[in-house]
Parts: sequence; structure tokens; C-alpha cells
Amino acid sequence: MEVLKNAEVFSPIRWRDGLQLLDQTLVPAEEVWVDCTTPELVADAICRLAVRGAPAIGVAAACGLVVGLQTRAAGQSLQERFDEVYDLLIKTRPTAVNLRWALDRGREVFSALEGKNDDEVINSLRDWALALHAADIETNRRLGQFGGGIFRKGDRVLTHCNAGALATAGYGTAVGVITSAFERGNLSHVWVDETRPLLQGSRLTAWELSRLKIPYQVVTDSSVGALMSRNLVDRVVVGADRIAANGDTANKIGTYTVAVLAARHGVPFYVAAPLSTIDPTTPTGSDIPIEIRDPKEVTRFHGVDVSPNNADAQNFAFDVTPNELIAGIITEVGVLEPPYVESIREALQSA
Ligand code: MRU
Repeated sequence: MEVLKNAEVFSPIRWRDGLQLLDQTLVPAEEVWVDCTTPELVADAICRLAVRGAPAIGVAAACGLVVGLQTRAAGQSLQERFDEVYDLLIKTRPTAVNLRWALDRGREVFSALEGKNDDEVINSLRDWALALHAADIETNRRLGQFGGGIFRKGDRVLTHCNAGALATAGYGTAVGVITSAFERGNLSHVWVDETRPLLQGSRLTAWELSRLKIPYQVVTDSSVGALMSRNLVDRVVVGADRIAANGDTANKIGTYTVAVLAARHGVPFYVAAPLSTIDPTTPTGSDIPIEIRDPKEVTRFHGVDVSPNNADAQNFAFDVTPNELIAGIITEVGVLEPPYVESIREALQSA
């Protein structure tokens, strides 16, 4: 039974009598859904980027809490199991703050259910996780409406990594903005950075834009300067994994390079993200933990060595774009503008 709402929107996360995640490591070659029957399978899917993108990680983790309670050992208390699964999931990826955001909300919901019987607790937590899934799609639609309004007829936009339906419960953040601008007739072309090393741009964003019938071309990450110097880019829109209280933004490695080039060429650079990606407890970008991944992701590709087999590599998964390079942060409550300390504080208070 399809329980999740917004069924018309493509989602990489679905609940069919249990949690299923689209294995994004295989897209676009194959569409394989992973049955996540244990919290360990959910944690593994997050770690190996079968499910990825900050909001999608948060929603998958919320569902993972439910899977955890459903699979507790005989005699284990729900509280003990909840804590065990929370600790397992929170360690999976350090930068995407939506993970902590969703798990902490799950803990609040769970605590409020004290006194109910086990079945009531599990069913209520499942209803909450599914509501979080539906709410993420609605948030992205609102965010897309605000973002679509900043485009002008004929604009050519560049995006980095994948901040589309696949990276969320559905519709996407940066790709949601692009979709909304396209539907308004205000977007003529999308430049899709391939996004080394794991090619979230050329594999995933290109797959989404093909399905949406939005005109695009994939470019190597190193093409951005050439495109901008030829006046071929009017705007940049990217997603975020964590936005600090001052607006500094962590996103996929290479985003900072794009932002610096955009500043050099006078191209407005926007971040699109839900308020759940803003972390008011992280004061600045230098306080954001940056995930460092396996060097093999850089030296091997699809099982083939692309460096000598003894080559070492550095694999920062994210970088930080300082707030002064960001023209606006597109959220579900509007487009936040500098100075971000104030606009972020007001936006979080209003929510
Ligand atoms: O390592 P990934 O693929 O999880 O990185 C994803 C990104 O950097 C996205 O831009 C970000 O999470 C925003 S997704 C709406």
C-alpha cells in the first residue's frame, strides 16, 4: 500500500508496508529499490549514498527510527531501542544537519508518547515520519515558488551537485526553483556541473531534468569559469547541507569554487534550502563539520582505477561558501537577504 502523500511527485523514499529507498548509486543505469528492513540497512544506505541530499537523509532517518522500533528484540524496551537506533543513525553523515534535525524531532514525538502501548507508539511515530515526508514536499514547492520569482525571461542557470527530487522527499530545492522558473517561462537553459567525484550532477540532476523536459547540458566542473567568462550564465542556484547562523553555507565540494567565479563575473549566486537546513547552533562556516570520505571515491570510478593503484587522495565531501558570496537564501518563508544573521534569526522566529 502506498502510504506516502504527494504520490504524483517523484520521491526516492517510499513506505510500502515498510521503508524502501531508491538506490541512487545505480541511477541512471538502473532503478533498484532497497527494502530497508532493519535500521542497519537504513544506516548503510545513508553512508554509501544510496539515499543522499540533506532533506532526503533527514526523512530516511525519521523512517529509520520507525523501522528500528518495529524490529526490536523480544524483551527490549522501546526506549532502549529508540536510543540505540538514534545513536546508529546520527553517526552516518556529519555535515547534513537535516539528519540531526529529523532525529531530534523524532525523539520529541517519541517522548510525548510516553504512557501509550507499544503498538500505539510505533504507529504514531510512523504517522509522524510519513507526515514529515509530505511536509518536505510542500516546503520545497513553497520554496520553489519564491525562488522562481527571482528569474528573468531567458535566464540561463548553473547548478552544482543534485538538489532535486532525489535529494529530498520530492520536488527538490535548487531543482524545485529551476522547475518553477521554467514553468513561468523564465528559464531557457540549465548548466549541470557533473560534480566529481560521484557525479551527482551528470547522473542525478541530468536524469531529473530529462524527466522534467527542462533543457540542459552537462559540463565538467572545470568549465564554470569558461562559461561565465563567455557570459553564458545568468544565475547560480545550489542546495545546502548546512547553513550556519551567519549564512555561511556548506554544500557539495566545488560549490565554493563556483561562488568565487560567480563573484568574479558578477553572476548572482543563490542557495535554496528549507529552514531545517539552517543550524542556528553553528555560528559560522568554520564551525561546520566537513565529512571526509574514502579516497577510493576519487582514485577509482565504477570499479576502475583512474589513478595509479597506490595513489592517495583527499576527499572532502563538502566545502563552505562564505555568506558574502551569497546573493540570497531561498527558503519556504521567502528569500533571505544579507545581513544573514538578522534575516536568518527573523525567519527562524517566524516559523
Ligand atoms: O553527498 P551528497 O550527494 O549527499 O551531497 C548533496 C548536496 O551537496 C546537496 O546539494 C545538498 O544536500 C542539498 S540537497 C537538497
